[in-house]
Amino acid sequence: MRTTRRALAAVVSAAALLVASGCGAGEDDATASTVEVFTWWAEGGEKAGLDALVSRFTAACPGQEFQSGVIAGGAGVNAKQVLNARLQQNDPPDTFQAHAGAELLDHINAAQVSDLTARYEAWGLTAALPAGLIETLTVNGKLWSVPAGVHRANVVWANDQVLADAGILVAPKNLKEFVANLEKLRRNGIESPLALGRDWTQLMLLEAVLISDLGSKRFNGLFNGETKWDGKPVRTAIDDFATIVGYSNPDRDSLDWPQAEQLLIDGKAGYQMMGDWVAADLDQKNFSGYDSFTFPGNGKTFQWLADSFVLTTGAANPAGAECWLRTVASPEGQQAFNARKGSIPARTDAPTVGFTDYQIEAVEDWKSGTPVPSCAHGSACSQPWQNAANAALGAFSTSGDAAALQAALAAAARQFVRQP
Ligand code: GAL
Repeated sequence: MRTTRRALAAVVSAAALLVASGCGAGEDDATASTVEVFTWWAEGGEKAGLDALVSRFTAACPGQEFQSGVIAGGAGVNAKQVLNARLQQNDPPDTFQAHAGAELLDHINAAQVSDLTARYEAWGLTAALPAGLIETLTVNGKLWSVPAGVHRANVVWANDQVLADAGILVAPKNLKEFVANLEKLRRNGIESPLALGRDWTQLMLLEAVLISDLGSKRFNGLFNGETKWDGKPVRTAIDDFATIVGYSNPDRDSLDWPQAEQLLIDGKAGYQMMGDWVAADLDQKNFSGYDSFTFPGNGKTFQWLADSFVLTTGAANPAGAECWLRTVASPEGQQAFNARKGSIPARTDAPTVGFTDYQIEAVEDWKSGTPVPSCAHGSACSQPWQNAANAALGAFSTSGDAAALQAALAAAARQFVRQP
């Protein structure tokens, strides 16, 4: 696959050179160079966001053609495996989607991604991105990816009708009220009132419960060694998490987030805890009977994650990939992408034209809330740490063994934590 694509790119580049130098055979050089952009945005709101970015890229980068390297699967569960295999075989796409933060570490250490520090100045990113985000993106004093947008993870999505039928009219303010509502829904005939999916979606739920029980400061400490994973407060959170999981669909381990979301749309569940890509997806699916609120007990905590793009060191078409990155970095690119993706621009100066009321609120919350990173989406954890956490959650979903879950999470932290 790589050989074919690279060979094609080489032929195309050679042809372009010939034409540029006047040595061509007089044929027109209609063949564009392709830029392979590797993502996991295959359908629904995710694809709508990507498509909007592609339109901008096509307009801004004449002679370059978008080539989709997409591998479906929420949070990149499948894409990351394929990507790693390709990188190991020295078959990189020109650019790939990655989360800002710790998740990029392995790629940086393996010299698979290029230093983009100089582009930050050139593209106005140094001035336009929030300082905290630049700090998170900086590794070894350099910048390695261009953020496209910021998502909020700690949100609960609700089916208005299902809740109204059970007489639930206000959002729960804390875990106790949330559990009471879940119980009420069950008594009202909704057997599995919380729509839940596989391992990483369960990790998201656990993280949200940890934020409620520990507060943002101690939650942050879980990822820099300041908060103990094997202490009593984490055990309390795991017990609360177990109670909440008890209200979820028993087939959770076989569902990705859009399938869990379908339970919400179909009125089989009242709530789904998931990042705010859900809004864009529900809109794509023409479902408007929903509402959302910050996870109960999370207060003003904004659990963030950022999608970003890198330039691979082995890119077959680095100039094309750079034009893709410049599009991602531009205010217009960020507006187009985020308006459809449900996230908010990473740039503080990007226009918010076409944003939903939810997104406008999210822009405000991002400015005024307390930011905490996400392990499930790479801003807090390295990839091996995230894998270990997902495996621990998957095992717990079957066994229900809270002590084993805590021990596994504590062991992962001991192995992978980086001191501040
Ligand atoms: C996240 C990603 C989001 C969204 C989500 C579900 O990891 O950052 O953009 O795609 O996964 O797939």
